[in-house]
Amino acid sequence: MSREARAAGCRAAILVSGSGTNLQAFIDRRDAGRLPLDLALVLSNRADAYGLTRARDAGISTNLIAHGDFASREAFDRAIAARLDDSGIELVILAGFMRILSPWFVRRYAGRILNIHPALLPKYPGLDTHRRALEAGDAAHGSTVHFVTEVLDGGPRVLAGRLAIREDDTPASLMRRVQSLEHRIYPEAAAWFGEGRLAYSDGAAWLDGRRLEEPIVEDLDA
Ligand code: GAR
Repeated sequence: MSREARAAGCRAAILVSGSGTNLQAFIDRRDAGRLPLDLALVLSNRADAYGLTRARDAGISTNLIAHGDFASREAFDRAIAARLDDSGIELVILAGFMRILSPWFVRRYAGRILNIHPALLPKYPGLDTHRRALEAGDAAHGSTVHFVTEVLDGGPRVLAGRLAIREDDTPASLMRRVQSLEHRIYPEAAAWFGEGRLAYSDGAAWLDGRRLEEPIVEDLDA
């Protein structure tokens, strides 16, 4: 890796499986000169992920590692790790990466993997979060940025974006509203990491030297 690349800051990889609207939010913030991260690599498990096209258009190196080519989850994860290590990646940003990472991988990058999950965690880990929030009659819904641990969607929470559910919301409208809120909170939380303000230690998230018992919550109109 060149000295110039190092100088640009914390080297981050974004892992995507789909459309990559969150990736685009990172790119837009970078292009606005407000992202203290070097977006060094975009990696996908799916050849048809539109996120790969967004990355190429933004001049970011891309890599496709198809999970179907590997005999086990860990073999797939080891191939990803080899690619991340080749690129000197310091922060792994999961943005709609729809594969569960093996305990091996999570331990390998402990404290250096962020995820965004479309729910106000600890509510609704897993899939179908918007429908579940509506069916439960929740007044609020949102999305949460958290560090990744071996517990699915259960790692220390950093930043949540919250919105009020409207009477006429459907799972589709909620998905759109939550995604637009994600585009604000995810680059923000990752920027904290890039600035050295956010860290993972003793199984907890720390911001500006303070242990976060609860995530920071931003009420957003999306
Ligand atoms: C995002 O809404 C993210 O919260 C969700 O996938 C979407 C990806 O959208 N992630 C999960 O559900 C992970 N459990 P994008 O590809 O347009 O960024």
